[in-house]
Amino acid sequence: MKTYAIAVLPGDGIGPEVIAQAVRVLEAVSERFDVRFTLETLPVGAAGVAAANDPLPPATRAAVLRTDAVLLGAVGDPALDGAPRELRPETGLLALRKLLNVYANLRPVTIHPALLGCSPLKPERLRDVDLLVVRELTGGLYYGEPRGRNGGGASAVNTLAYSASEIDRVARVAFEAARGRRRLVTSVDKANVLEVSQLWRETVTRVARDYPDVRLEHAYVDTAAMRLVSEPATFDVVLTENMFGDILSDEAAVLAGSLGLLPSASLGAGPGLFEPVHGSAPPLAGRDIANPIGAIATVALLLRHGLRLDAAAEAVDDAIAAALDAGARTQDLARGGESPIGTTEMGTRIVELILAEALEGLS
Ligand code: NAD
Ligand code: IPM
Ligand code: MN
Repeated sequence: MKTYAIAVLPGDGIGPEVIAQAVRVLEAVSERFDVRFTLETLPVGAAGVAAANDPLPPATRAAVLRTDAVLLGAVGDPALDGAPRELRPETGLLALRKLLNVYANLRPVTIHPALLGCSPLKPERLRDVDLLVVRELTGGLYYGEPRGRNGGGASAVNTLAYSASEIDRVARVAFEAARGRRRLVTSVDKANVLEVSQLWRETVTRVARDYPDVRLEHAYVDTAAMRLVSEPATFDVVLTENMFGDILSDEAAVLAGSLGLLPSASLGAGPGLFEPVHGSAPPLAGRDIANPIGAIATVALLLRHGLRLDAAAEAVDDAIAAALDAGARTQDLARGGESPIGTTEMGTRIVELILAEALEGLS
């Protein structure tokens, strides 16, 4: 039986709760399909600071490099908001992305028909929405030097820098993805103001020549933000730099109905990093009310992109859809007279559906 090693980094806040459900789903997948997972749980973020005074402890660094894929919950703790940068949970996440060199972050956004009423957008605007944000993840403002506070803190600087090769490689991921979809790439930048965006636009245009079967359009980020809520169905693949992608993907979550639904896959040459789009949601932590679907859909991306187990990935996506069809709603999704179920119960329903599909397969 094929065995895969997975590093599990639950992190902070609701991270451990949603990852517990994601792990149950991996166990159900292993029961249903002919595969085995060896899981190693490791601290990151505030949990890393508590365990080893480091948001990405050396033991976690060493372990993730030995695995086939990394599954992460979320990082962030208000108690560390005032901590120096090297002790901030978010610093651990950025260091992890850099360590794994996962430069392309895929954030798919689809609308489940049963959840049309969960978005504040009119249902007719949501029809045919199916988009993929391809976010550059290891460059740009988050990493540029110089950075820091100057003049005793009275001024501050961050640096936005990209090389053509960093843009080229993530653009290729977007064009390849578009080939399996509707063959449209919308590259988002601010080329009317920023030199970095001018290089972005030139480079993406050059890469597009290698993909004559894919249509390329350019959009300024302000217009793209507006189009995302006014005509979201006009997007297929949205290719953009690190910070624009962070902002636009949370905006796109409004289309789906809750940030708690969205998964992501961060890919490079080595093991991929798989994490839901949402954060540690401190006010929800420890209350069994967070939506675990983002984390569970992230398991589907891990199976598909990380391990190439397409049938298993599909089984997980099908089970999520079936649970929603059957009316399962966590608090963020429950409307009107619907009574919400907890994080664990949502996990249970999805696990049961994965195993029930297995029984169907046997009969
Ligand atoms: P957040 O994503 O944690 O929460 C934003 C909103 O979405 C909140 O209203 C929250 O209740 C809701 N939400 C998020 N996940 C949910 C879920 N699974 N189910 C139901 N509702 C959900 O963002 P924030 O509040 O701006 O940040 C909190 C902390 O998380 C910060 O420390 C931030 O740095 C960190 N963060 C981490 C990641 C990550 O680890 N990838 C991502 C975003 C934010
Ligand atoms: C995300 C988060 C992170 C980011 C933070 C926590 C560093 O918002 O994964 O979207 O901005 O990349
Ligand atoms: Mn974000």
